[in-house]
Amino acid sequence: MKIHDNILSTIGNTPMVRLNRITKDVAATVLAKVETFNPGNSIKDRMAIKMIEDAEKDGRLKPGGTIIEGTSGNTGMGLAIGAIIKGYKCIFTTTDKQSREKVDILRAFGAEVIVCPTNVDPEDPRSYYSVSSRLVNETPNSWKANQYDNPSNAQAHYESTGPEIWDQTGGKVDHLVVGVGTGGTISGTAKYLKEKNPNLKIWGIDTYGSVFKKLKETGIFDKNEIYPYITEGIGEDFVPANVDMDLIDHFEKVTDRDAAIFTRKIVRDEGIFVGNSAGSAMAGLLQLKDNFKKGEVVVVIFHDHGTRYVGKMFNDDWMRERGFLVEEKPTAGDLLKGKDLTLVSVEADEPVLLAIDRMRKHNIDQLPVMESWQTRWHDHRCTPLRCDPRRCRSAPPKGTGGHGSGVACDGTRSNTGGDREEAGQWIPGRAGEDEGGVRDHHEAGYHREVEVEKRHGNARALPFLWDHYPDVLHGPQPAPLPCGVARR
Ligand SMILES: Cc1ncc(COP(=O)(O)O)c(C=O)c1O
Repeated sequence: MKIHDNILSTIGNTPMVRLNRITKDVAATVLAKVETFNPGNSIKDRMAIKMIEDAEKDGRLKPGGTIIEGTSGNTGMGLAIGAIIKGYKCIFTTTDKQSREKVDILRAFGAEVIVCPTNVDPEDPRSYYSVSSRLVNETPNSWKANQYDNPSNAQAHYESTGPEIWDQTGGKVDHLVVGVGTGGTISGTAKYLKEKNPNLKIWGIDTYGSVFKKLKETGIFDKNEIYPYITEGIGEDFVPANVDMDLIDHFEKVTDRDAAIFTRKIVRDEGIFVGNSAGSAMAGLLQLKDNFKKGEVVVVIFHDHGTRYVGKMFNDDWMRERGFLVEEKPTAGDLLKGKDLTLVSVEADEPVLLAIDRMRKHNIDQLPVMESWQTRWHDHRCTPLRCDPRRCRSAPPKGTGGHGSGVACDGTRSNTGGDREEAGQWIPGRAGEDEGGVRDHHEAGYHREVEVEKRHGNARALPFLWDHYPDVLHGPQPAPLPCGVARR
């Protein structure tokens, strides 16, 4: 009989699985270390138990104590499992961007979970880091695991993940691709593997909105790199002690959209139900594919399970709302061929946000703006020969707002261009003038939409919007802005 005394000894020894379809364009052999097989369904079980046992050994964690941690979910799960078996209480702080499933699952394990705002500085008293630190001071016989700076985190991967990968590949591994959050997984695993083979390459996967890549490449901690993002589990707005930059050869950034799309694709191509950071790692691996030669072995780590994301990346509405869904779409040709299709359009007088909603809903990035004769002339009492500037919505009175669409009052396209703001007023631009400056004054996503709506009240402005606000449709993925708008 081979029986485990309790669930803790089932942690680790996860399978290594060859990827076949999703990697068809990669010359090298790609193997996935599938960490969903751990009892908490993530790789973080390894380090959670190691942190608890090291703290027990040196007396930081005492019998009957309370474990406190700021966790996006997976570390909490490992800690909660350890706490149940070893008789501790758990209080976790997490952020409001984490999937609902993660919070519910932590509560299912009997943990107390406090949800904190995402978009505040780590030093802000409301941040999940600060709240967990305050709780440690207020709770008797408590211990904060502090996965970011606790060396037991990376050590767990040095002792288990690294040796497993080496053994499972028979020492043939040439590249390791890993999503980076606290840095424990990549640093501990890389340390072990590089000791075995110093030529092995370590590729860290980062996200837009995180500081790692720029820090690695320039040595600069750039606050402008920090802004909200959707990808879960990886990327940081500070540098945890567990990130050992010297062991990482390169950081590759992956967009929220690609991370989400590849999370779904892994499941559909390979039948492996994994979470969002696996999608990010897979997308990053494909971005890097030219570095992986025929005959080489690439190992990618799949950190956690897809069940945590059924309300997000695996939910079509959630994906569609963010413009992430790739769907087969009928073409204008199909419409002309008389196929039974309805043309998605918007009336010129309808609000621009309605147009944007309609495009998101149908996952399209253009739609015709319909302007009937009545709308164009009759409503405004204008004719092609006589325009009443106080009423005409095509050509607003000078200085009160630029339309920017290039639609002149007579319905033809003019080449005004270059509407701009001066001393709080909109000045219609001169022919051929660039309109780019307008963009710098807007934050991405919601704020940008509100501004767009305010300044270009109706769908007539759409041609201008596509040129100057391309990511209104695709949700927040902002570039750094010089105007100092606070992002978090
Ligand atoms: C789903 C997921 N992926 C990746 C990571 C990053 O791992 P690490 O913190 O070891 O860098 C985490 C960390 O919490 C995670 O939860």
